Amino acid sequence: MVTTPLLPSDYLDLISPLRAGADLRGRIEAVHPETGDAATIVIRPGRGWRGHTAGQYVRIGVDVDGRRLWRAYSITSPTNRQDGRVTITVKAIPGGKVSNHLVRRATPGTLIQLDQPTGDFVLPQTKPAKVLYLTAGSGITPVMGMLRDTEFDDVVMVHCAPQPQDVIFRNELHDLVADRKLRLTEVHTDTDGRLDIARLDELVPDWAERETWACGPAGLLDAAEEHWTEHGVQERLHTERFRPSVVVAGDGGEVTFSATGKTVEADGATPLLDIGEEAGVLMPSGCRMGICFGCVTPLKAGAVRDLRTGEITEAEPGVLIQTCVSAAAGPCDIEQ
Ligand SMILES: Cc1cc2nc3c(=O)[nH]c(=O)nc-3n(C[C@H](O)[C@H](O)[C@H](O)COP(=O)(O)OP(=O)(O)OC[C@H]3O[C@@H](n4cnc5c(N)ncnc54)[C@H](O)[C@@H]3O)c2cc1C
Ligand code: FES
Repeated sequence: MVTTPLLPSDYLDLISPLRAGADLRGRIEAVHPETGDAATIVIRPGRGWRGHTAGQYVRIGVDVDGRRLWRAYSITSPTNRQDGRVTITVKAIPGGKVSNHLVRRATPGTLIQLDQPTGDFVLPQTKPAKVLYLTAGSGITPVMGMLRDTEFDDVVMVHCAPQPQDVIFRNELHDLVADRKLRLTEVHTDTDGRLDIARLDELVPDWAERETWACGPAGLLDAAEEHWTEHGVQERLHTERFRPSVVVAGDGGEVTFSATGKTVEADGATPLLDIGEEAGVLMPSGCRMGICFGCVTPLKAGAVRDLRTGEITEAEPGVLIQTCVSAAAGPCDIEQ
């Protein structure tokens, strides 16, 4: 009664936000610029943090202009970091709400929401004899988490970025090369053009024998999956995508968010998650690419199309949809 209308935990949150038993949070303790548009954010997780496996990602909830937005970021610190802090490394993308906020405006002391780390883009228990890391742009982040965590006898990296100054962690990578812990090929796409996957024969002649982890834009990963499959070694390729591969656009239509009482016109290519957020509807979300199920919402009426497969889902009692990979396929009603 003393604390009404707030709960006692609301007051505890003010005094000790990272305490055991509270919702998992983290405090940003430092922001280190890496390149012109990327920065490493040092986070002290609260007491409930269970630790990560190299290569995994964490979902973080950040308040941007008064709205809590959730995004996924790979953990770039090693698992044995002594001070208990973890890092993520974020590349600001043009028009990106959370990435620009984190890279350009995040300040030490800021509290963020955290989920437990997750993801299966990880190293196996048994160390492979030969490793290839194939990365581009911000796709280097989960691999940096692996490189900092586990040493291999024979590890090669092929990394693509527009120019040398865009290569995130460049100094650290070159230190590893100088210490003979890594063989590195940088592909500077502004001058060299996009990496033609067939060039691997020349850059890494034994690529097919190597256990490979690849992360980067869809074009690179699609080409890699095709190439590894053509050579019958697809089980040696592990990929991580930061965005879903969208193959089909729907028809669009009028979308009603019945719990909020909002109705907006949607095209057939934009995920309902984005449509709802733009309309100011509080939408649950997580990875925003169809893997975590943090966005599932009942479809009350109408039909939606899965942007990855083109499959249509029609409303029926109990039908749930993933709003991050579903677009309107005609008029529909989302219970949000
Ligand atoms: C498993 C996983 C791990 C990830 N790890 C990292 C990481 O370590 N570092 C990192 O910087 N990002 C990472 N991401 C991407 C990150 O979660 C966000 O998608 C990214 O920061 C953009 O968010 P935003 O709010 O700035 O953009 P939004 O405001 O959501 O989007 C703005 C515009 O950019 C487009 N867009 C969204 N995401 C991307 C993207 N990745 N590339 C190009 N265009 C995009 C949108 O379609 C939209 O048009 C990861 C994603 C996943 C799923
Ligand atoms: S937000 Fe992760 S599946 Fe939709």
